[in-house]
Amino acid sequence: MTAPMNASIKPLDILIMAAGKGTRMHSRLPKVLQRLAGRPLLQHVLDQAAHLQARSAIVITGHGATEVEAASAGWIRVEGQFDLKFARQEPQLGTGHAVQQALPLLAGDGTVVVLSGDVPLTQPDTLRALIAASQAASATSASVSGGALALLTVTLPDPTGYGRIVRNEGGAVQGIVEHKDASAAQRAITEVYSGILAVPAHLLAPWLGRLSNDNVQGEFYLTDIVAMAVQDGVPVLAHRIDDALQVAGVNSPVQLAELERAHQLRQARALMEQGVRLADPARFDVRDDKRSGARGQLVCGQDVDIDVGCIFAGRVELGEGVQIGAHCCIANATIAAGAIVHPYTHIDGEQAGVTVGAGALIGPFARLRPGAQLGREVHIGNFVEVKNSTLADGAKANHLAYVGDATVGERVNYGAGSITANYDGANKHRTVIEADAHIGSNCVLVAPVTIGAGATVGAGSTITKAVPAGALGVARGKQMLLAHWARPTKQPKP
Ligand code: UD1
Ligand code: CA
Repeated sequence: MTAPMNASIKPLDILIMAAGKGTRMHSRLPKVLQRLAGRPLLQHVLDQAAHLQARSAIVITGHGATEVEAASAGWIRVEGQFDLKFARQEPQLGTGHAVQQALPLLAGDGTVVVLSGDVPLTQPDTLRALIAASQAASATSASVSGGALALLTVTLPDPTGYGRIVRNEGGAVQGIVEHKDASAAQRAITEVYSGILAVPAHLLAPWLGRLSNDNVQGEFYLTDIVAMAVQDGVPVLAHRIDDALQVAGVNSPVQLAELERAHQLRQARALMEQGVRLADPARFDVRDDKRSGARGQLVCGQDVDIDVGCIFAGRVELGEGVQIGAHCCIANATIAAGAIVHPYTHIDGEQAGVTVGAGALIGPFARLRPGAQLGREVHIGNFVEVKNSTLADGAKANHLAYVGDATVGERVNYGAGSITANYDGANKHRTVIEADAHIGSNCVLVAPVTIGAGATVGAGSTITKAVPAGALGVARGKQMLLAHWARPTKQPKP
């Protein structure tokens, strides 16, 4: 990089425009709080401030301001290393007017990067290059203190609606013309302004003061500062990228879904490049977990196979050789090597997490809830729910069962239709089932209760007292037999 040493240490302040209404979303939720990959759009943008080690981020709010401000402040408490500030813009008189509202909060010594709250997928490296372009430019005679106005641009096959980059014969940028104000010749220009720029703060303030709303939309356009920079002899640089996805905005549910798919496809490709086998990268999702707020992150060992339609939320780790069947939802879980998760299984660790041991078999149609900790070779079959319970190596619950608040020993066989009655209506109690116990079908284990090692519980029992090790516990009505029993017969209607 050719930037002088002192230029690169200029503090960075990020300005995020988020006051717009988002009319085309037809939603009660402010547009910038709509989610992409489980994360609100504005949070994607605020992440940039963290990636770039910004000094501050100023969010310009208007529509839904209180909601947007409360949500952002919540994320920053967890994630932020930068100063988060808000500027209200009411009414919304254009992008230039938006930035004017933030001026009082902006220090004069930094570089300002302007972003939009509805453009979520800009990559930090792209912004770093843009910032470097703004900071590196050597001073011309007119711009004594140095720095340039750097615009992020992209060439689009259909530039309709965007501001066009107007250049002179020598190729130098002269200004930006908004689509609605552009002549036919200008509308033929395919290089457009992305809405993202970097500029030294001390240059910005005087230009903003000179903006007018004398244009087709009657708005104060931020883009008018480009022509002012040219007038003032400040270098204007266009940093052009090829990747339109990085500057794509969300204006409608259709665009949101398109961006979501494009983003997921990129995540899928990155995993496949590491060797993960996805049956169909177009039917695969990794998201933030909405409830715990955990960042979407799928970490895979070698030879992981994932069938179609799976959704991974929060942090999920899949060990070597793990196979995930079709249409599983897996959140905040660690699944050890060689485990097989059959189709339609729902695993949600929430805050407590779920762990599945090596070689375990889970599902189809199984449900593992927070605090389920399964050892090696554990089998959990169809319609079995496990919550806040430890199942030691080799334990099995294969059909239609509930294991809640239980400690289950090695090799325990837990019969079909059996449940732990862990809740007395006020408090939760634990069930302890020691190693090698056999719980028959359709039993109710009323907690707190202990089944000793190697004990057997007869089918259909409601167990309220401890069953000692090695004993048989049966608690059900004795079978009665009436020989030659005549069933009632149907009476003729009177
Ligand atoms: C803007 C650019 C255009 C560029 C395009 C890229 C201007 C004048 N034009 O146009 O050159 O090609 O982005 O997407 O800047 N906002 C406010 N307050 C306002 C108006 C807008 O906060 O008063 C926010 C919006 O919520 C949005 C962002 O600014 O996040 C951009 O506004 P939008 O109206 O979408 O700009 P465009 O007209 O698309
Ligand atoms: Ca507009």
